[in-house]
Amino acid sequence: MNDGAATAKSVDIALGDIADLQDVVDRDALREICRSFFDLFNLSVRIYGGSGKLLASVSEPVELYQYLQELESGGKLVGDIVDAVKRLVPTGNEVERHETITGAVYDVVPITYQGRGVGRFVIGPFVPAELEQVPKALVRLDRSVDRMKLRDLLMKMPRVREETAERITDHLRSVIDLLLFSSHRAHLTSEMHVASVRESYRELAEKTAKLQSAYDRLKELDQLKSNFLATVSHELRTPLTSIIGYSEMLEANIAGELNDEQREFIGTIHQKGNQLLGLISSLLDLSKLEQGVMRLAPQPVDAGGLIEDLERTFAPHAHKKGIDLVVEVRGELPALNADPLRLKQILANLAENAIKFTPEGGTVRMVAEATEWEDEGGDFGAVLMGSTREAVAFRISDTGIGMPSAELERIFDAFYQVDGSSTREHGGTGLGLSIVKRLVDAHGGAVTVDSKPGQGTTFTVTIPEAES
Ligand SMILES: Nc1ncnc2c1ncn2[C@@H]1O[C@H](COP(=O)(O)OP(=O)(O)O)[C@@H](O)[C@H]1O
Ligand SMILES: [Mg+2]
Repeated sequence: MNDGAATAKSVDIALGDIADLQDVVDRDALREICRSFFDLFNLSVRIYGGSGKLLASVSEPVELYQYLQELESGGKLVGDIVDAVKRLVPTGNEVERHETITGAVYDVVPITYQGRGVGRFVIGPFVPAELEQVPKALVRLDRSVDRMKLRDLLMKMPRVREETAERITDHLRSVIDLLLFSSHRAHLTSEMHVASVRESYRELAEKTAKLQSAYDRLKELDQLKSNFLATVSHELRTPLTSIIGYSEMLEANIAGELNDEQREFIGTIHQKGNQLLGLISSLLDLSKLEQGVMRLAPQPVDAGGLIEDLERTFAPHAHKKGIDLVVEVRGELPALNADPLRLKQILANLAENAIKFTPEGGTVRMVAEATEWEDEGGDFGAVLMGSTREAVAFRISDTGIGMPSAELERIFDAFYQVDGSSTREHGGTGLGLSIVKRLVDAHGGAVTVDSKPGQGTTFTVTIPEAES
């Protein structure tokens, strides 16, 4: 509501005021009233709005007027009568009677609503029943006038007795009042409806704007966080490589023989240094993935070989924990076009979790098998439109602690851990799965999870063959 006129109007409406009949009443409805009034009483009727505008009218040509217009001085006379009636605006609430030189009269009736004049209606011309004679002034009007004809035509006009005229105007008044009242009510209701819709819309727009700015702010913070992580990780890595490098040299006795205790200490420094390097690499990977600057180096990959390679990496770890590690390659696998290092990183993260979250005596199973990849049918959304490609499904399942289904949606968020407490049993940062998810996406694949608390978890990574 920016323009002043609309505001002013809605203020009026809010106060329940009407300035003009035509603001609320349908013109067709007024015309209908005039028509039935004319049919009932054979009287001409016109309805004007508060501004003087003619809103509805039903009338018959007046033969007397037609005759007068043929006379030399009659034309002006008729025009004057019509003008005078048009100009007559009642000031109070009373009916004003306009008498004319012809003896015929008009009744001008104010239309008021809630104490305010909103228009008027005019009934006539009609002849009061008491009139017997052609008025002298009319006879004297013109020398060529035909007295008998004048009388005939005057008597042909509708004749109405005084009390009948009153009843008729009262009747028409109450019909118009009723129409005004119901129209006004409907009008108010619709205005109120529009106003409330407008108000809700405004509130909604306000909330949306607030949300948008909060969202922008969060995005900005997120960006800051990513930049911070990237810088810090990068700066940490350089000194860390020195620490790892020197501890390796010490272990290799380059600075002289070490005794057993020194060897043990240096071993711990080396091991923890590597662990820290792993964490820093994860952070760097994540920030690269988040900023979309991670470059993949795709090449033909033998999925079966990859998973057997993983077995060699994880077997000692699993064995130490008393976990049975089973690796299976089922049937012929299609050749994948993928980044082998990243693909290995994906599977290693999942294998590491599986072993971590499975207690002694459990089993971790890694399976690779051929499957079909269904491309979505783009905007048409229909599976019918989609095509299928060959793909490899990697399934890493364990018989470990599992997760409640409510958690499954969130575990792919960065830093999210089902047990986020400081007293948790298992180490980690909560970065692994978020990197997995992003790397799988970057390969155009999909990762899903299926888990039951106390029974185990299965992650499935599906990587499609390159699009032909
Ligand atoms: N195989 C699994 N069994 C049970 N819970 C798992 C498993 N894999 C992941 N989770 C849950 O998902 C969380 C996020 O995993 P991840 O991103 O790899 O972080 P991290 O291993 O550093 O805790 C884990 O902390 C754990 O709560
Ligand atoms: Mg992990």
